[in-house]
Order: sequence, then structure tokens, then C-alpha cells
Amino acid sequence: MRKKLVVGNWKMHGTRAANAELLSAVLAARPYAADVAVCVPSVFLSEVAATLASSDIRWGAQDVSAHAQGAYTGEVSAAMLHELGCRYTLVGHSERRAYHAETDAVVAQKAQAALGSGVTPVVCVGETLAERDAGQTEAVVKRQLSAVIHTLAHCAAEMVVAYEPVWAIGTGRTASPEQAQAVHAVLRAQLQAATGRAEQMKILYGGSVKADNASQLFAQTDIDGGLIGGASLKAVDFIAICRAAG
Ligand code: PGA
Repeated sequence: MRKKLVVGNWKMHGTRAANAELLSAVLAARPYAADVAVCVPSVFLSEVAATLASSDIRWGAQDVSAHAQGAYTGEVSAAMLHELGCRYTLVGHSERRAYHAETDAVVAQKAQAALGSGVTPVVCVGETLAERDAGQTEAVVKRQLSAVIHTLAHCAAEMVVAYEPVWAIGTGRTASPEQAQAVHAVLRAQLQAATGRAEQMKILYGGSVKADNASQLFAQTDIDGGLIGGASLKAVDFIAICRAAG
């Protein structure tokens, strides 16, 4: 059986004091049966790494440059993340795709850059409400994932995938467990056809996961944990979600 993984996505939230308080509560509530990680703003990575270093809680970034190094003002490379002990980086979050015009090709290059430096990419895919209403959900997520599979080639089985329907992010409108499971099954079949190792790969669900809906989502066959935005900022909620993945 695949071990569950719960990843907090802090987005652009936090202060040094608030982070310390949150992490100290998350640490105090251990052990968790699931693997737990937090993806934090880059500026906090160093301090978060120091706080979590002697624990089994993992940390990561929310984005990574597609480039190895050079004149890319404002960007952070995968090697830099690796040096700070990042286990993960999110790649292709819908907010990056929407506000920073990240294409499928750029997302794939970022995933490749991460893996090349020993950082596991958590590759986010998901359809908008208009795409769902037009019956395009499957085609959209398959197209997004296919670009990454093609670029990672024989390393594709090393990524983590996160299905995040855009209409469910930060809206309080969660996909039903059945809706999410249906898409996860499609993604796993696609991964299986490409890698032959999909049974070992993790596919997370994200989009308004809360303490009171996490268990039902995580009980689905192909849902291996969650990518948690808003609820990852409140210790009591995040801890409850991590426990629901046990
Ligand atoms: P949410 O965000 O849990 O606040 O909906 C999820 C995400 O964007 O990763």
C-alpha cells in the first residue's frame, strides 16, 4: 500500500513568528502515520529547514526555476533548494500557470530541473470550471501531465502528481470524493502506461481540503494524500488533516 503524503502549501503567507508557532504545534503533534511536508515561501526556507532538520517533517518550495543558474533575476534554482534540504518543490500550481503564464512546456522544464538536482517535483494539474463544464476535464489534465511525462522520460515515476481542480482552490468548494477519484484514476492509468510503476506513485488531491472532508477524500483508492492551502496555515486544522491521512 502507498504511504499517504500531506503537503502544506503556505502560498504567500507567514511571518517568522507565525511560522515558528505553527511548526512547533505540528512538531508537537507527532508522530503521524503519513509523510508530512510544508512548502513555504523561499525567503523562509533556511529558517524552516533549521526548525525541522532533526524531525521527520519535510520541507520544500512552491516554485523553482527551469534554469540551472545565470542571469535570471528573482529566480531560485533547484540546486539552491537542494542545498537547503528541500525534499519537494511544487511545480505548475494553477496560480503560477494563471498569473505567471507558465505553459505546460515550462512546467515540464521546471520538473526536470528539480529532479536533476534531487528535489522531487509535486506537479500540479487541474481544470478550470469552464473546462469542467465543457466536459474537458480529462483532456486538460492528461495534456498537462503528458508534457511532464514526455520531458522526464525514464524519470517520470519519480514525480509526485497533485490534482487540483482550479474551481476548488480557495473557494470552499471541494471536489466530491467521487469526482476526485474519477480524475485520479485517469491520471494513474496515464502514469501506468508511461512508466509501468504507477502503483508506487503518489497522486495528491488539492482544493479546499479541510479537517472535515479530508478522511473521505483520502479513503479513495487513488488519492494518496493532499496538497493543502488555506487549512495548512492553522495548526489545529493541518494536524487534523495529517491525522486523517493516517
Ligand atoms: P486550498 O489551496 O486548500 O486553499 O484550496 C490548495 C492549493 O492551492 O494548493
